[in-house]
Amino acid sequence: MMKPDLLMMGSYPDGDMEALSSAYRLHKLWELGPDGPAVSIRPLIRAIATRGDLGVDTRTLEILPHLEIIACYGVGVDAIDLDMARARGIRVTNTPEVLNGDVADLAIGLALAATRRIPAGDVHVRSGDWAKANLPLTPRLHGKKLGIAGLGRIGSTVVRRFSGFDMDIGYFGRSPHEDAPYRFFDDLTALAAWADLLVLTLPGGAATQKIVGTEVLQALGPEGYLVNVSRGTTVDEEALLQALEARTIAGAGLDVFWNEPRIDPRFARLDNVVLQPHLGSATIETRLAMGQLVRDNLAAHFAGLPLLTPVI
Ligand code: 8YV
Repeated sequence: MMKPDLLMMGSYPDGDMEALSSAYRLHKLWELGPDGPAVSIRPLIRAIATRGDLGVDTRTLEILPHLEIIACYGVGVDAIDLDMARARGIRVTNTPEVLNGDVADLAIGLALAATRRIPAGDVHVRSGDWAKANLPLTPRLHGKKLGIAGLGRIGSTVVRRFSGFDMDIGYFGRSPHEDAPYRFFDDLTALAAWADLLVLTLPGGAATQKIVGTEVLQALGPEGYLVNVSRGTTVDEEALLQALEARTIAGAGLDVFWNEPRIDPRFARLDNVVLQPHLGSATIETRLAMGQLVRDNLAAHFAGLPLLTPVI
């Protein structure tokens, strides 16, 4: 049987590339010119493999008349033109669940790194300054109030991970979760005013764009910390930079940004922010599971079986 033609929007780890190439004829967008696949190839392409950070733009969908499925290596599908995919009957899959634990781990890491100023401590020891002076004291994290914006799969895992931190927990969402024994806020500003640490685990997309702006940051206040492991788009970055520069919030731990990977250089000049290059799901184990799930969804599609983790 002929291998189906698969367009890859960006590369995957080597093992995934090998596994995909044994089942599909791969077209690697990053090796093609600015126009993408050649006109003669376009009608052959039946599947796209993309990543959460890359998505699939409208033009790519427009030039592929026989596209059947988009498999996303990542849970967030906000960068995929879902409206057009839906209208054309193109199936979309993602990789939910398998990455919850890692994103939650990183949220804890960023919260501790920002509040306890772990990067500054590391610099202090390496530079030899420890012998000359002690660093200022920091606030503690345990026992404080944790606000989660978005109590979905990742948000609930973050809450579970923090369960050893003796924190009061509140959450913001569209509606209360019947089985969640935490304080519900239907207003994000009210949650920020209540919380000492605000963790963002909301999905990206139009509904959450810049949902954290000046008002929410002012409510979080000069002793409040923000951690973002969701999407950069959920935050009004100009407002966040101003709040960090003016110290109207205490600090932040950020794994996601607008314009990744070329983020606003003002972040690098701040000592009250801990920065990560979108590594929430970036462990060996989770990335293996994500790659497998992408392949399992594609294989199910081409075998005419139900998709494992369909988005549409
Ligand atoms: C990955 C992600 O960074 O799951 C998501 O939505 O953003 C991440 O897991 C990405 O998909 C891999 O490049």
